[in-house]
Amino acid sequence: MRVLVVGKGGREHALATKIAESKSLERIWVAPGNSGMKKMGLECVAVESTPEILIFCKEQKIDLVVLGPEGAILSDLKENLEAQGILCLAPSQKAGQLEASKAFCKKVLVDAGLKTAAFEVAKDELSALEMVAKHDFSKPLVIKADGLAQGKGVHVCANQDQAKKAAQELATHYGFPLLFEQCLIGQELSAFALCDGNDFVFLGTACDYKRITPDPFSLNTGGMGAYSPCGFLTPEDEIEVLNIFKKSLKVLKDQNTPFSGFLFAGLMKTAEGLYILEFNVRMGDPETQALLPRIKSDFLDLLVKAAKVQLKGQKIEFFDQNSVHVVAVSGGYPTNQMILGKEIRTPQSTAEGTQLFFAGVMEQQGQLVNTGGRVLGVTAVAETRSQAREMAYREIKNIHFEGIYFREDIGL
Ligand code: GLY
Repeated sequence: MRVLVVGKGGREHALATKIAESKSLERIWVAPGNSGMKKMGLECVAVESTPEILIFCKEQKIDLVVLGPEGAILSDLKENLEAQGILCLAPSQKAGQLEASKAFCKKVLVDAGLKTAAFEVAKDELSALEMVAKHDFSKPLVIKADGLAQGKGVHVCANQDQAKKAAQELATHYGFPLLFEQCLIGQELSAFALCDGNDFVFLGTACDYKRITPDPFSLNTGGMGAYSPCGFLTPEDEIEVLNIFKKSLKVLKDQNTPFSGFLFAGLMKTAEGLYILEFNVRMGDPETQALLPRIKSDFLDLLVKAAKVQLKGQKIEFFDQNSVHVVAVSGGYPTNQMILGKEIRTPQSTAEGTQLFFAGVMEQQGQLVNTGGRVLGVTAVAETRSQAREMAYREIKNIHFEGIYFREDIGL
């Protein structure tokens, strides 16, 4: 198989690395990838737009294209590739609404009879203000932008003033509608499935860390680390997670929106059971970097089967191990006052059981320098989470660049 992975972050580095382990792989490229991936032996190609990718795929006789980020997934790329007879693992633009519109996602969840936080949709400023006014704030009020907001479209508001301000801010940045949601209390986790429109293979669970420091009120980030599996689900919860995917896929198929690709359920384990917070139509970043190294089965074979609607009866095997992924970010992240362009020094090779995944990096005069918020991450896999944690931290402490910052509590 000749494969192209589209994207340039740590998630795509982990996807390409896992696919590259397959016996069926002939050659793999990442578009556009990054200089860190190149340094680690992956072929990167500087194509980003749909026409450029189409030309590259035809020239290189690509058999399968795997789309990483939501931007590519929600674009016209899949439709154009498929029109040329090139397999593309991603949902259709219509099914992509699961992530692109929270109101659409809520409707699917309600139709599937799944537990999700009670919610109302405000179509304009007047209805938003009415919703704020009628909330008693004995529990916080969650206000969300309907569309894509790169993780920044959610405010948890403790009082009327905060809620009014949040609604105004969200409406200014993202427009209406806004979602007003009951605040759930519990432990968050991410669960992933590889889907072919009819069937799915469960890829496992992970927990990520969204805040820049352990303070839950500190600034939100793209993700500071993750561990897998999440470890706190009972066997009954695990059955429920499978049900969530099964019922949602059925509703989508019945509504003529079959879902293929990676489905990411943001869940919360509450005293009343598992609730679904949201669906995303892609793998999580950085959950992917924690999850994929635990997969034992031939991942590319499963991806091809998903793209060809042949997942029925497929099984997946995992290493019976735990993983921890720690992300190193640029000084100043997630503000726009970041310390960038600094030389990154990494060891010649990583210790056994650990892997390095690159994100916001570039080569300048022969040196790798940091060019984005999340710069790189280290995954360690071991029998226990605490062993994996120790290994990941030992490794990341051997990496240096001016301003480097990482949380010290990933996997605790
Ligand atoms: N880690 C959360 C996300 O990828 O959206």
